Amino acid sequence: MTSAVTTSAVKVAKLTHQFGERLILDGIDLEIQRGEVYGLLGPNGAGKSTAIRAISGFLRPDSGSISLLGNDMVRYPARSRDTIGIVSEDVGLFEAVSANEFLCFVGHMHGLNGSEARNRTNSLLELLELEASSREPIAGYSLGMKRKVSLAAALIHAPHVLLLDEPFNGIDAPTIRRLCELLQQLASERRITVVFTSHVTDYVRRLCNRTGILHNGRLYDEQELMLEVGAPHGTEPGLELLLERLSGAAPKITTITSWYQQRS
Ligand SMILES: Nc1ncnc2c1ncn2[C@@H]1O[C@H](COP(=O)(O)OP(=O)(O)OP(=O)(O)O)[C@@H](O)[C@H]1O
Ligand SMILES: [Mg+2]
Repeated sequence: MTSAVTTSAVKVAKLTHQFGERLILDGIDLEIQRGEVYGLLGPNGAGKSTAIRAISGFLRPDSGSISLLGNDMVRYPARSRDTIGIVSEDVGLFEAVSANEFLCFVGHMHGLNGSEARNRTNSLLELLELEASSREPIAGYSLGMKRKVSLAAALIHAPHVLLLDEPFNGIDAPTIRRLCELLQQLASERRITVVFTSHVTDYVRRLCNRTGILHNGRLYDEQELMLEVGAPHGTEPGLELLLERLSGAAPKITTITSWYQQRS
């Protein structure tokens, strides 16, 4: 239920989840305001997708609370169906139908009438340059094309919160540029809230008002973590350096390069 007193779009408190013996999310607190674009970062396996799935209502966490525009996502995930748009890590589309049919179907599921669903489908297909293949079965699409369809499905019902797990994976550069522009406008002009994960720091810098980094189950504000690991504060290459330090990339590279003999 939407509460009149709630101003934040996403409010997560003490979110904890483990898979087997492995503690993945260890008491995460996060508050994101309407109109913010929040970047959730961290090395592979840090728990970004787990956190997005929990916030989306697809994964019931072991403990903690998640409120999305005032709705309790742990107890009533289905109530937010029409207010959130989700891109998950694995694309998961009905591949026997075309993009055109799939998007109209998703529009209907969210309560759009026939002509509105068709109009919005056409606009999204045009934005994403999918028109040429839009009447062919999705099964024959490339990875990037499937991802575009999944992004279109997240946007068709004009949701207030977008939860995007690596949304730009496999998508061509001009489309990413248009999508970044769209997301920025939705956030600044319509106060749409965007939470997204990415490993590409360039998009993160371009899009986000604020970033958090998951590391060892805890969520750190980017600036806090920079101080903790002694990375240069507020500098542009800071984020790259920080992620490198977390994953310990440099020593591993040295080990592998040492396998090769010096060549002249
Ligand atoms: N369904 C599951 N069952 C068991 N373990 C899981 C499951 N889903 C995720 N994990 C584990 O939880 C940890 C976090 O996974 P998650 O997919 O959230 O990481 P991530 O930060 O999204 O990584 P990436 O950057 O590679 O996408 C990993 O160790 C993963 O193996
Ligand atoms: Mg992931």
